[in-house]
Amino acid sequence: MNSETAQRIHRQDYTPPPFLVDSVELDVHFNAGEVLVSSQLQLRRNPAAAAQPAPLQLDGQGLETISLAIDGTPLGADDYRCTSSTLTIDNPPDALTLTTQVRIDPDNNSSLSGLYRSKDGYFTQCEAQGFRRITWFPDRPDIMSRYQVTLHADKASLPVLLANGNPAGSGDQGNGRHWAKWEDPFAKPCYLFALVAARLDVLRDEFTTSSGRSVQLAVFVEPGKLDQCAHAVDALQRAMRWDEEVFGLECDLDHYMIVAVGDFNMGAMENKGLNVFNTKYVLARADTATDADYQNIDRVVAHEYFHNWTGNRVTCRDWFQLSLKEGLTVYRDQEFGADMHSRAVTRIREVRALRAMQFPEDAGPMAHPVRPDSYIEINNFYTSTVYDKGAEVVRMIETLIGKEAFRRGMDLYFERHDGQAVTCDDFVAAMADASGVDLTQFKRWYDQAGTPHLWASGHYDEQARTYTLTLSQSLLASATAANAEALQSPLHTPFHIPVAVGLNGAHGEDMPLMIAGEGSAAGSGRTTRVLSLTEFEQQFVFEELPAAPVVSLLRDFSAPVILDFSWSDEELAHLLAHDSDPFNRWEAGQRLASRLILAAAEDLSVGRPAYWPQSFVEAAARLLEHASDDPAFAAEALTLPGEATLAEEMTVVDPSALHDARNGLRRFVAEQLGNALLHCYTTHADDAPYQATPAAAGRRALRNVCLSYLGELHSDEARALAMRQFESADNMTDQFAALATLAQDDCQERVLALASFYERWHDEALVVDKWLSVQAASRLPDTLAVVRGLLEHPAFDLRNPNKVYALLNTFGNNHVRFHAADGSGYHFLATQIGELDRLNPQVAARLARRFDRWRKFDEPRQQQASFALEKLHSLAGLSPDVREIVGRALE
Ligand code: PHE
Ligand code: ZN
Repeated sequence: MNSETAQRIHRQDYTPPPFLVDSVELDVHFNAGEVLVSSQLQLRRNPAAAAQPAPLQLDGQGLETISLAIDGTPLGADDYRCTSSTLTIDNPPDALTLTTQVRIDPDNNSSLSGLYRSKDGYFTQCEAQGFRRITWFPDRPDIMSRYQVTLHADKASLPVLLANGNPAGSGDQGNGRHWAKWEDPFAKPCYLFALVAARLDVLRDEFTTSSGRSVQLAVFVEPGKLDQCAHAVDALQRAMRWDEEVFGLECDLDHYMIVAVGDFNMGAMENKGLNVFNTKYVLARADTATDADYQNIDRVVAHEYFHNWTGNRVTCRDWFQLSLKEGLTVYRDQEFGADMHSRAVTRIREVRALRAMQFPEDAGPMAHPVRPDSYIEINNFYTSTVYDKGAEVVRMIETLIGKEAFRRGMDLYFERHDGQAVTCDDFVAAMADASGVDLTQFKRWYDQAGTPHLWASGHYDEQARTYTLTLSQSLLASATAANAEALQSPLHTPFHIPVAVGLNGAHGEDMPLMIAGEGSAAGSGRTTRVLSLTEFEQQFVFEELPAAPVVSLLRDFSAPVILDFSWSDEELAHLLAHDSDPFNRWEAGQRLASRLILAAAEDLSVGRPAYWPQSFVEAAARLLEHASDDPAFAAEALTLPGEATLAEEMTVVDPSALHDARNGLRRFVAEQLGNALLHCYTTHADDAPYQATPAAAGRRALRNVCLSYLGELHSDEARALAMRQFESADNMTDQFAALATLAQDDCQERVLALASFYERWHDEALVVDKWLSVQAASRLPDTLAVVRGLLEHPAFDLRNPNKVYALLNTFGNNHVRFHAADGSGYHFLATQIGELDRLNPQVAARLARRFDRWRKFDEPRQQQASFALEKLHSLAGLSPDVREIVGRALE
């Protein structure tokens, strides 16, 4: 497809499908060098479609059509029209059986969409529009059908044959071939279709649901990897129990299968009863996977399982509604994560990720609403906005209507829509109806792109003993509290923003929250209140306050906004030490650090030395002193905001000044607190063998933060410490943390550790990914040269998304190296994107997103970036995927 045929699809153009497909019968023959797919579709006119009879149109991509028949009669040349992507039948009967036979070539399908080969097996990926690469079909999520699938293959090379649903027979068919039939009792959209034919090992288990039904669980992995499956099975069982307990949702399946595959574009896929996972979110063993990997596995396994209700039982009417299933399911997996681990630390990490990914997206050329208005390539809209901001929007509904009403809203949503393909409006309507809360204005969050700015100011009146809080909002970053009103435009109607507030007293105690006009009962006894900001500007007066409070705003990050409030450094230190809301304790530390780093970056960029106050070191020292109370929290509090997040706050980004400023502060802390860091490191050592528990993981996180600070000293002692940890660790968390610290330091230990790591792990694909990414993330000046060299290394493979993400995407996220002043990073990545696009447009387009913020940099860098982008944009045969991303970046 070229740019002329790539069309923009608009949400407003939705019309119901003219035909429905009641049932699908597929026969899939795996032959040497080809796969033959025979399909029988039972179609009928959609009673809900437009009155005038439209033709029957099916989608296809890369199909070689062998035969077509309606009700058993082969189609003549005049009966249909066929292009490379559509099959049109002009005057079909109102009900018909359409039989098609096609040949497809999964061995040469490097896009990893549709049916494709990975190593020695065959796997499918149909979301969003991959099913059309398997057979002719009206490929849209509002057509739900019952499926029967029979697979035929060589028994020795493809012994495992799987599809959605329940086994319905299998056997040998002579000459070394066998077959297996599967029947899915649930009607589903075709994007949830899956099949697998491969050689795999399996770990089986069982789950008994709350009503006593037994579900057979199975995790399939590449032969030899069974010892890395236990955690995924455990996560699945915990997720199943959690969904029963928290949402009353029981598993509806007899068989729940997870298949891990090494070549996969995304994280995992929720195909009905047959999830297909990137190996990265299944395989874990103490010596190969880090604590972060273990926690990600929990979350992704849970996420895909939760989709069985939020996504599969109730699905999306069209792809503009993607956040209906993704935002809601991310919210659900976040809540699961919070219940499995520390709620506060989980929230902190999510907000850190939101600021690093979604805020820049919302401020850049790919900004789009949670429910987009249009797209060229839907695969480009599996974004942080749809997923993570979508989850924030669901969380805000919960905050506004309360936990119990939210649960009632979920119940009502399923009561109304089970078995349907619906819209975000339907979800919000269920929440509004169940709670009695009017969410009309709230829905603006679905329609308006951009991160709102929230300005707050407070005033304490000693005489009246009142504290007046003024809140105002705007989508414009340049507005200030004073001129926000002037910048209001009819286009920017205000959001409904839940602002969770607490007031801190002089000793850190929570003060009463009584609001004028409410009577004193309403606020007494509560330590946090959720204010509803629904206008551009509103005032809230808190009464009966004996002294001036320090206000704690947006507790637990109650809304995805950029909050501006001029706390003094002392007030931030007070909040960091005392706020009862752990998120805001962390947040206060982040604010303090951001202030210092941004000021230092400004100083450094004009040749002035950076200034580091002792007060910051004192705050860090206090954190270290109390670290044992909650090591995981201390680790987060000691971690400075990342460069990409900080860059968003600069008008013109100077990436090297920013980099030097941030690392300068790290080094200053290390110089001042070397002993305390070492003490903390030593006292949190674990003698016990590795356990992936939250407590043990928290101690490791804390120690490894200490180690990374000590690494800033570039001292022989710090290097020896890291090397000792690298060599003696019994787990990947500690081994990799030591390697990551050494990788930032130009020393002999670095070379030795990198070499021995590869030597030891070159057969474990996922560990090799870590080896690639730790080098691509290095701040050392020769990183680009190293990355270039690694392209030629046997460990790298441009066809494997995990390798591409590990090496190239990590490099694109290496702020100081990717944005090198001479443009070398830009030209390198653009060239690689062009190469990759010929193999895998989806992954190439994801990689192209690293250019999103190019306009925030200085003139010479902008010139280099635009030159690299223009060159990429002009490549012959560029995919619509990459064209859409680069086109928007250049707009
Ligand atoms: N629907 C998957 C999920 O979020 C993501 C995905 C999308 C995977 C498209 C593959 C292709 O769980
Ligand atoms: Zn999902």
